[in-house]
Amino acid sequence: MIENYRDHLLDQAKEWLLEAGELIKTSMQQPYRIDTKRDRKDLVTEIDQKTEQFFIDNITEKYPDHKILGEEGMGEEVHSLDGTVWIIDPIDGTMNFVHQQRFFAISIGIYHDGIGEIGLIYDVMSDVVYEGIRGEGAYKNGQRLKPIDPDKTLTEALVGLNNFWAIPNRRLDEKKIHELVRKVKGTRSYGSAALEFAFIAEGIIDAYITMRLQPWDIAAGKIIVDEVGGITTRVDGSSIDMLMGNTVICSNKSIHESLLSFIQEKDT
Ligand code: IPD
Ligand code: CA
Ligand code: CA
Repeated sequence: MIENYRDHLLDQAKEWLLEAGELIKTSMQQPYRIDTKRDRKDLVTEIDQKTEQFFIDNITEKYPDHKILGEEGMGEEVHSLDGTVWIIDPIDGTMNFVHQQRFFAISIGIYHDGIGEIGLIYDVMSDVVYEGIRGEGAYKNGQRLKPIDPDKTLTEALVGLNNFWAIPNRRLDEKKIHELVRKVKGTRSYGSAALEFAFIAEGIIDAYITMRLQPWDIAAGKIIVDEVGGITTRVDGSSIDMLMGNTVICSNKSIHESLLSFIQEKDT
């Protein structure tokens, strides 16, 4: 992507991001509809949908040749990453949004021919914007983020895990999960994948491991974490596919290697 054009896109995306944040803050003052999707824990509100529609209307008007992959499926279906694709989660952490009115984020990844160019994560209630621009660094509210500590090891790590780890799952049995929890320094569960990526980039947690994330949960975070020297792959070490669901490990290189071998090694 030509640099001037990318700068222009970044400015435009940030402007819409902040406007969308205002839209969410205003909308949440009034009663709003809450529906469920796959099950009673998978929530969507009319504010998620309205926010996604806000981006779709603006992007299609200004950039009719760009594609939009949004969680709520308000746009067209996207089957390839050719050209410029906006991958959007209008509210990441809808459960937090509904129950806590905070700890949620808008997540936008802009990809060009499959390459992540711009990542934006907006923690709306804290008014913090994380941004990553491929090859140019990552920022928190305009302040450049330092590279993450390359020497930190798994035993020193604060690790983001989600609640699926507390129930039996086919990838890691109970004994291994207990072993992992004992091995690391501490675990955290924030309820917003986008914020967990942002926190890794900021250096306030050291890893994130989860068994099911969709492209809109990962798209922005991966770009931001790449820019501070982190790695994001599936739990078998293969690359993330931005057109389908993925398992995810995100951390520095050393913790990433330890987690990969920990998951792959047979029970002790
Ligand atoms: C969810 C959050 C959550 C993660 C789930 C996601 P949503 O996104 O990121 O932390 O554990 O896998 O689906 O539904 O709130 O946009
Ligand atoms: Ca999400
Ligand atoms: Ca969402």
